[in-house]
Amino acid sequence: MSTPVSNVPLVTLNNGVEIPQLGFGVFQVPPAETRQATLTALEVGYRHIDTAEMYGNEAEVGEAVRESGIERSDIFVTSKLNNGFHDPDKVPEAFAGTLKALDIEYVDLFLIHWPLPTIDVDYVDTWKAMEGLLDGGHLRAIGVSNFQISHLERVIAAGSVVPAVNQSEIHPYLTQDPLREFDRSQGIATEAWSPIARGKVADDPAIKAIAAKVGRTPAQVVLRWHIQRGEIVFPKSVHRSRVEENFALFDFELHDEQMAAISALNRNERTGPDPDTFAHVPK
Ligand SMILES: NC(=O)c1ccc[n+]([C@@H]2O[C@H](COP(=O)([O-])OP(=O)(O)OC[C@H]3O[C@@H](n4cnc5c(N)ncnc54)[C@H](OP(=O)(O)O)[C@@H]3O)[C@@H](O)[C@H]2O)c1
Repeated sequence: MSTPVSNVPLVTLNNGVEIPQLGFGVFQVPPAETRQATLTALEVGYRHIDTAEMYGNEAEVGEAVRESGIERSDIFVTSKLNNGFHDPDKVPEAFAGTLKALDIEYVDLFLIHWPLPTIDVDYVDTWKAMEGLLDGGHLRAIGVSNFQISHLERVIAAGSVVPAVNQSEIHPYLTQDPLREFDRSQGIATEAWSPIARGKVADDPAIKAIAAKVGRTPAQVVLRWHIQRGEIVFPKSVHRSRVEENFALFDFELHDEQMAAISALNRNERTGPDPDTFAHVPK
């Protein structure tokens, strides 16, 4: 596969590692379709893939990365610690499993998937075990996902590494401005999951009106809104035309009033679980 020249900006994380601001997410992509979906994304030009042990498709992501013919160092791969592995003794085993499934020499970024603040393992202890993974030479950065400000405060106070990223649900109906501001103040990069609210933004009249004005699709407008807010995004699609659509974000801009109009759609509405109460641990 040839390596198209990419115009995706790189974000420098707090340890100097660079991550493409736009990536491809594979949540709910069935394992049987993941290899092809990932290859399609890489062909289109994406160089950042977001997976997780919980998604059950790390091996297929790894296959696509290896088969793509693209230099390993030109692709950024994130995976996540599943909820059943918060016990500090289980963290190395979980990471070894991810590394084995992906089979791509190293992982760029490994996140605690959910804080699970109500279970009997303290996520601060999980974080300290995550820090230990950095010594193994197979991991470039560690971070968290779905951490609220109170969770981040405890991890930063007790840990010796500040998370490189916090990956949270963020879209026009859940703009999460206090959390983003806290991340920024601590040097933590904000990643926005479900950036187009699982496709819901495509039907929003206000977003459709802006899209008509700028001659783009609603999804492109919302993804561009994230990019201009400085967030890292990785929309998911199993359709090549949408994978292409979601990648074409760097030849137009939204002006301040359009940005503000999209932000004003906030209604603190989650599509996924609440991190303060979510406690699902697979057996
Ligand atoms: N850390 C976490 O807890 C967490 C949680 C959820 C997600 N994530 C990550 O974030 C990634 C993205 O989130 P997500 O998959 O939940 O939601 P999303 O990217 O906001 O939306 C994906 C949905 O929108 C549709 N879609 C994609 N492009 C579209 C377009 N241009 N126009 C209209 N509809 C479009 C897709 O359908 P088709 O596939 O049919 O095109 C799919 O149903 C995930 O894949 C995963 O990597 C992380």
